[in-house]
Amino acid sequence: MKRDVIVACDFSSMEETLSFLDRFEEEKPFVKIGMELFYSEGPEIVRQIKNRGHRIFLDLKLHDIPNTVQKAMKALSGLDVDICNLHAGGGIEMMKAAVKGLTREDGTRPLLIAVTMLTSIDQEMMEKELKIKGELPEIVMEYAKNAKEAGLDGVVCSPLEAAKVHEVCGDSFLTVTPGIRFADDAKGDQQRVTTPAKAKEIGSDFIVVGRSITAAADPVAAYRRCVSEFC
Ligand code: C5P
Repeated sequence: MKRDVIVACDFSSMEETLSFLDRFEEEKPFVKIGMELFYSEGPEIVRQIKNRGHRIFLDLKLHDIPNTVQKAMKALSGLDVDICNLHAGGGIEMMKAAVKGLTREDGTRPLLIAVTMLTSIDQEMMEKELKIKGELPEIVMEYAKNAKEAGLDGVVCSPLEAAKVHEVCGDSFLTVTPGIRFADDAKGDQQRVTTPAKAKEIGSDFIVVGRSITAAADPVAAYRRCVSEFC
C-alpha cells in the first residue's frame, strides 16, 4: 500500500468542510470524516466529498454487540468510503461480524482498521478504571493481534508503536497514525507527537494530520510539506 497523508477534517459543518477542500485546486487529499461532522451532516457529507474525487476514512469507531456492529457496517458499506474503523476492545467476534457486514455482495469492501487503546487512556486509568491488567504497550499489541486474527487490515496507533505493530502483525498490516506535528508546531492537546519525516522513518503507512494543516495560515502549503516529508 502506498504511503499517504490523510487530512482530519474536524469541522462542524458541510459548508466549512467544502470551502476548506475548495482551497485544494491541484491535489485531492485523502480526507478523514469524524463523528462531529458525520453526526451533524449525515451520509450526505460522505457523498459530497466522494463526488469531488477524494478518498475517505470514516472515523466512527464502532463498538457494540456483534450483531449491531454487523448491521451498522452493512449500512456503511453502501457509502463507498475507503477506510472504516471500530474499537478492538469490542472483541474478536465483534470485529469478525464487522468484516462480514462491511463486505458487499460482489466481495469488495472498504479497508477496516481497529482503534487499540485511545491515546487519552494512560497506564493508570487503564488499570484503575478499565480494570485491565498489564503494560499498556503490550495490551496495544494484543489488541492488534486480535484485529489481525479477525481479518482486519490494520490499526490506528501512535507512530511510536508502528514499527512494533509491523513486527508483530507483519509489514502488510496497516498502521494509521495520528499525533503528527511539524518540528516547529505547537503540540496542542497531543502529548506524544512525531513529525511526518519521523513517522516515515518508523514505518507508518498513513499519517492522519488535523490542525497542522487545517489551522495553518496556508493549508495547501502545509499539506504539501506533509506529503514531501512523508511520501
Ligand atoms: O489536529 P490533530 O492533528 O491533533 O488531529 C488528529 C486527528 O486524529 C483528530 O481527528 C483526532 O480525533 C484523531 N485521533 C487522534 N488520536 C487517536 C485517534 C484519533 O488524535 N488515538
